Amino acid sequence: MFRVWDISLMICFSVSLMFVGVEGISELPPPRNLTFKWETPFTLNLTWEKPKDLDPDCKVNYTVDVRHSQDCPVKAKPDMQRDKNSQIRRVQNTTCKLNISNENGLCISVTVNPENCENKDHSPSLDISIPPPTVMLVKNRSYEYSHNRLKCTWSPIDVVQDLGFYYWSPQKDTVIKCNDMKIGECVIHDTLLKDITTSMFYLFNGTYQGKPVNNTFMDERPAQYVKLNKPQLTIQRDGQNLHFQTNISDLDEFGPQCYKYNYTYSMCDKIAPGKVIEDSKYEVDYDSDCMYRARVQIIFSDKCGAGKSDLSDEVEYGENRDPNLPALLAVIIIPLIVSCCLIVSLVLLRRHKDIIFPKIPEPTLIFKDMLINNIRIPENPRVNCAANYHLLVSQSENFQIHTFPH
Ligand SMILES: *[C@@H]1O[C@H](CO)[C@@H](O)[C@H](O)[C@H]1NC(C)=O
Ligand SMILES: *[C@@H]1O[C@H](CO)[C@@H](O)[C@H](O)[C@H]1NC(C)=O
Ligand SMILES: *[C@@H]1O[C@H](CO)[C@@H](O)[C@H](O)[C@H]1NC(C)=O
Ligand SMILES: *[C@@H]1O[C@H](CO)[C@@H](O)[C@H](O)[C@H]1NC(C)=O
Ligand SMILES: *[C@@H]1O[C@H](CO)[C@@H](O)[C@H](O)[C@H]1NC(C)=O
Ligand SMILES: *[C@@H]1O[C@H](CO)[C@@H](O)[C@H](O)[C@H]1NC(C)=O
Ligand SMILES: *[C@@H]1O[C@H](CO)[C@@H](O)[C@H](O)[C@H]1NC(C)=O
Ligand SMILES: *[C@@H]1O[C@H](CO)[C@@H](O)[C@H](O)[C@H]1NC(C)=O
Ligand SMILES: *[C@@H]1O[C@H](CO)[C@@H](O)[C@H](O)[C@H]1NC(C)=O
Ligand SMILES: *[C@@H]1O[C@H](CO)[C@@H](O)[C@H](O)[C@H]1NC(C)=O
Repeated sequence: MFRVWDISLMICFSVSLMFVGVEGISELPPPRNLTFKWETPFTLNLTWEKPKDLDPDCKVNYTVDVRHSQDCPVKAKPDMQRDKNSQIRRVQNTTCKLNISNENGLCISVTVNPENCENKDHSPSLDISIPPPTVMLVKNRSYEYSHNRLKCTWSPIDVVQDLGFYYWSPQKDTVIKCNDMKIGECVIHDTLLKDITTSMFYLFNGTYQGKPVNNTFMDERPAQYVKLNKPQLTIQRDGQNLHFQTNISDLDEFGPQCYKYNYTYSMCDKIAPGKVIEDSKYEVDYDSDCMYRARVQIIFSDKCGAGKSDLSDEVEYGENRDPNLPALLAVIIIPLIVSCCLIVSLVLLRRHKDIIFPKIPEPTLIFKDMLINNIRIPENPRVNCAANYHLLVSQSENFQIHTFPH
C-alpha cells in the first residue's frame, strides 16, 4: 500500500517534470499562407504571414531556404548542413525576392526564428514546391565570349516556331532580347558583358504544343566563357638558346595579367614538360643535334575568369642528327671504304697487269735495232748520236756495249 503511493507520486513528479521541460523549449508556431509570384521570368516574390497566436513581446525573423528541386525534404531543419544545391536567406520582413531559375523546379521552406523571445525554438518549416517547366525547349547550352560578343549555342529539342531568347543580369536590371538568332545559336552584342560580376540569366520561351513555355537558366558570368583566337608560334635561334614567341592578335580586351601561355614542346622526339607562364616569350637551351616541335595555347587566367584558345599549329625547328656520326664514320665506314678500294685495285691489277707493267723488250732485239740504226748513221748523224747514247744509258747495266760518237 505504502509502496504503491510512493511509486505513483514518483510517476506524477516525473511526468510534471517532463511537461515543464517541454514547455521550456517550446517551438514557435509556423508561418502561414506562403505564396509565390514570378514578377519577371527571373525574379520570384515570396510572401507569407506572421504566425498566429504569437506573443506580442516575441520578436521573430525568418529563414528562407531555397532548393533547386521540387522535392522538399521530409523534415527540413534550418541551420543544419545542407547540400550545395540550396541557398539560405534570413529576412526580417514577411516577403522575400529571389533571382532564380525555374530549370529544375524549386522547393522553398520558410521557418520562424526567435530573435528576442523567452525559451522559444525555431518553428517547423512551411514548404511550397514549384514544379519545373513542363517541357525543356533546349539542351546542352554553351557559351563563348570575346570582344563584347557572347555566342550562345544549344541543341533544340523540338521545333518551336516562336522560340525567343532573352538575357538578364541583376546588375543591369532589364530583360533584353537576343536578336542575332539562328537555329541553335544566338549572338549577344553588348558592351556591358565584360563587366558583369554576377551570374547571367537566360530565358527561352515559346509555344510548345499550343501551350506557352518559359525556361530560365542561371549560368556563370561571360568572363567565365572566354574564347581566344588560335595563336601563332614562331621559333628563333639566338646563340645557344631557342626563343618561342607567340604572336598576340586578340589579347587586348582584358589586362595582360589575364593571359597565360601554355608552351609544350618536344626535342629529338622526347616530350619536354609543358610550361604555363605569364610571358609571351619562352626560352629553352638549344641542342643543335635535335629537332624541336612546339605549340602554344593561351589560357585565360582564373584571376579574371576562365577559357582558352585553340592550340597553335605545330612549329618545327632544326633537325635530328646523330651526334655519334663522325666517330661512326671514322671507326667503321672509312676502313670499309679503304678495304673496298684495296680489293678493287687488286682485282684490276691482276686483270690488267699487262698494261700496267708492260713487258720489257728482250736485249737481243734492242741490239739488232741498234745495228740497224748504225747503218743509217750517215743520213742523220745527230739523231743517231742521240739514239746511240740512249742505248748506252739504258742498257749499260746489263751489256758492255761500246759506242763511239761520230
Ligand atoms: C491564409 O490562409 C488561410 C487558410 O490557411 C485562409 O483562410 C486565409 O484567407 C488566408 N489569408 C490570406 C490573406 O490569404
Ligand atoms: C512566362 O513568363 C511571362 C513573363 O514573366 C509570364 O507572363 C508567363 O505567365 C510565363 N508563362 C509560363 C507558362 O510560365
Ligand atoms: C511581392 O508581392 C506582393 C504582392 O503580391 C507585394 O505586396 C510585395 O511588396 C512584393 N514584395 C517585394 C519584395 O517586392
Ligand atoms: C520590409 O518591408 C518594408 C515595407 O513592407 C520595407 O520598407 C523594408 O525596407 C523592408 N525591409 C527589408 C529588410 O526588406
Ligand atoms: C534573426 O535572428 C537571429 C537571432 O535568432 C539573428 O542572429 C539574426 O541576425 C537575425 N537575422 C536578421 C536578418 O535579422
Ligand atoms: C549534348 O552534348 C554532348 C557532348 O557535347 C553530346 O554527347 C550529346 O549528344 C548532346 N546532347 C544533345 C541532345 O544534343
Ligand atoms: C536580385 O536582382 C535585383 C535586381 O533586380 C538586385 O537588386 C538584387 O541585388 C538581386 N539579389 C540577389 C540576391 O542577387
Ligand atoms: C517571352 O518572354 C518575353 C519577356 O518576358 C515576352 O516579352 C514575350 O512575349 C514572351 N514570348 C512568348 C512567346 O511567351
Ligand atoms: C602576327 O600575326 C598577324 C596576323 O595573324 C600578322 O599580320 C603579323 O605580322 C604577325 N606578327 C608577327 C610579329 O609575326
Ligand atoms: C597545356 O597544354 C598541354 C597540351 O595541350 C595540355 O596537356 C595541358 O593540360 C595544358 N595545361 C594547362 C594548364 O592547360
